Amino acid sequence: MYLTNEEKLMLDGEEGYATKKSMEILVALGNIFGAEKLVRVGSVQVAGVSYHNLGDAGLEFLNGLAKDGRVKVLTTLNPAGMDLEDWKKLGISEEFAEKQNLVIDAFRKMGIIISCTCTPYLIGNLPRYGEHIAWSESSAVTFANSVIGAKTNREGGPSALAAAFVGKTPCYGLHLEENRVPDMHVNVRAKLKKLSDWGALGYAIGKKAQNKIPYITGIEAADLDELKTFCASVVTYGSKPLFYIRGITPGSEKHNPPEERIVIADKDLKEAYESINDNVDIVDFVCIGCPHSSVKEIAEIAKLLENKRISPNTEFWVATSRLTKQLADKRSYTATIEKAGGKFACDTCMAVAPLKGRFRSVATTSAKGCYYSRHNNMKTQLGSLEECVEAAVKGKWS
Ligand code: F3S
Repeated sequence: MYLTNEEKLMLDGEEGYATKKSMEILVALGNIFGAEKLVRVGSVQVAGVSYHNLGDAGLEFLNGLAKDGRVKVLTTLNPAGMDLEDWKKLGISEEFAEKQNLVIDAFRKMGIIISCTCTPYLIGNLPRYGEHIAWSESSAVTFANSVIGAKTNREGGPSALAAAFVGKTPCYGLHLEENRVPDMHVNVRAKLKKLSDWGALGYAIGKKAQNKIPYITGIEAADLDELKTFCASVVTYGSKPLFYIRGITPGSEKHNPPEERIVIADKDLKEAYESINDNVDIVDFVCIGCPHSSVKEIAEIAKLLENKRISPNTEFWVATSRLTKQLADKRSYTATIEKAGGKFACDTCMAVAPLKGRFRSVATTSAKGCYYSRHNNMKTQLGSLEECVEAAVKGKWS
């Protein structure tokens, strides 16, 4: 891979340990994937923030880099393993909180913005169309590539950090136009009536597209919450972190529908629900906000919870970024939800918090959330916002 003089100096250690290590990672990746050069990135989003996933080895790695590593571009963080300000309310242990705070201290020292969200595009890390970026979290990567039209591979935690310290990433994969060409035409004939249908659609397309780039037709409208839900699901269940929806996402006008064609009908959505869902009766956990809730979703939750009370046997979380919650505070949505017995899980989410063994079953609007909850040994129920709120109030699925 071609390196400029400045890059060679970084590789030789001119800027210190963290930048040298970062260059080693980026050059190794570039050589493996046949990149010709490094390309400047406008921003970085780093995943691998929860102590639950990092453990002591990860913390040690971060502390090593934090000694002299400082980011060169706007860099934000994925969710951590707990609400950084109010972790006790979520049932997190002192021991875990202490370790998680050490992880956050290391990131803070590097100059990273402690935003802890998978929807960074809602709170200040918003790339422009065509911009090269280095993001990690799969739903955010898919949203950036597909809905915004920025260009990023799905970075691992270390390669994203390396890009932040160098300000560049190897130019291969989805950074190159020739690799952003759709190769499967997906004609959606299914009716999409509620938010969770977009998660089921993501499941159905992801399973059939398996590492292909879908070019989707048949969808006439989609709002931001529907698109972010779809992004999380389609990449979790199989496709590349890029899709086009004709007439809705940018770049779709540049491509024609590929020859290989599949149809997604109502029965495919029904099958998706059947695969994602278990046989759930008692619901002891309800989580909304995967990807992290927008203020519009929070407003809808507050409306549904007005003058209601969540079952004492059910834990109800609204996962979101702290900044989005601050917007919700201003309209009293927070007060309404908390008065009903709901809890805000800022900075964290149902997949990266240490939840194994705490709950038997979860109801959620997120197909991706169901996928990860099964890893936490929970039975899963995917449903609309109305259905999930009702389950939280009754303590059971009906
Ligand atoms: Fe975001 Fe966590 Fe879901 S990172 S997409 S809320 S699993």
